[in-house]
Amino acid sequence: MFSIALDQLKDGAVLCEDVRDTSGRLLLTKGQPIDAGQIRLLKIWGVPEVQIQEPDQAVASEKSDIDGDNRLKLERTVQTIFQHIDTGHPAINLIYRMAIEYRSQKDLFIDFGPRQPLPEDFKLDLYNGLKTQIQFSEVHLPESPEIISEFNKIVDDPNSSANDIAAVVSRSPSLAALLLKIANSAAYGCVSKIDTLSRAVAILGTREVGVLAMVISSVQFFRDIPKDLIDMSAFLRHSLSCGLLSRILGAQAKMPHTERLFLAGLLHDIGRLVWYRYFPEQAKLVLNMARNTGLSLYEIEKECMGISHTQIAGYLLSKWKFPDTLINGIVFHHNPLRSPEPAEPSVVHMADIAINALGLGHSGGHIVPHFDPRGWHLLGIAPGALKTALDQTVQQVDIMTELFAGF
Ligand SMILES: [Fe+2]
Ligand SMILES: [Fe+2]
Repeated sequence: MFSIALDQLKDGAVLCEDVRDTSGRLLLTKGQPIDAGQIRLLKIWGVPEVQIQEPDQAVASEKSDIDGDNRLKLERTVQTIFQHIDTGHPAINLIYRMAIEYRSQKDLFIDFGPRQPLPEDFKLDLYNGLKTQIQFSEVHLPESPEIISEFNKIVDDPNSSANDIAAVVSRSPSLAALLLKIANSAAYGCVSKIDTLSRAVAILGTREVGVLAMVISSVQFFRDIPKDLIDMSAFLRHSLSCGLLSRILGAQAKMPHTERLFLAGLLHDIGRLVWYRYFPEQAKLVLNMARNTGLSLYEIEKECMGISHTQIAGYLLSKWKFPDTLINGIVFHHNPLRSPEPAEPSVVHMADIAINALGLGHSGGHIVPHFDPRGWHLLGIAPGALKTALDQTVQQVDIMTELFAGF
């Protein structure tokens, strides 16, 4: 059974629950296929959504625009990527429908190839045969790049001024140019043009620019990872989309630190970049295994490597002295309820699921990760608002990606 908004409902969908108006009056009975006239009437009666038997009944017209071959690929793609989560949940059901729509528009089909059964001893096989499992003692995390340490000192010092941070930023022309572009972008809503760094910092705030610069410098630190391991432009698109959606969802949930949510979304999978850069052979095996078995990359890396990208991110960002409040949203994005402060990780959790589903870039995996409905309910956001947030993200991500292009 699937909840579906009326504007997604198509001719011929079969109701699996009676439809009543707000006063309880029976409008349509279950088991009945619905026609266009009835859909119009339901809208007039103010019915927001109905229950139908199959989610595919809602996308008939979207699918009719693509040919049979591509339709088959689209169905296989979406069924495969959603195989581990309950598409009957209203928020996931909405994301499922949006994934079909977006992926068909952009031809985002994935050929997973024939599924290979998971060997019973796959963990041991990797551990004994290929020595993939990594002991944490073997992970020598990189030292913080000098520029990040300098931003840290400024962020920590309550007496630091806009000029202090502008002086550090200006030593990296690409960072300075990017910060100016970001400060002038619509996302910050500044009316007049900001043409100097010290003015940008004065308007945006010393601490905010300091943390933003730390985040951008961390992404840049990992930029020369070989393309055959991960396409960094796809990784950046995944990260930016997750940041944008996290910020919008945070605003919808009336959370106070939406900018921090943007940064947490931007950095949420940075732990994977540590794998790709320092353990490329193991990472390659794990990526192949995720692709061949249909398990989520997060599950496989925990099993095979013995440590997840979220744990690695926690160690790395603590070592680099990022604020704990920011680290919280990153470390718990796959298990938000394990955090003592679950609200922000719950936002990133939902954003990551939606971004993976639509295929707005990727961080190595293609399967939609595990969903914890408790995190979603904590936010108190209606599924309709999630649709608006995701639509806005799709609109904004190209502009944002362009801002970061060439950085
Ligand atoms: Fe992740
Ligand atoms: Fe992710």
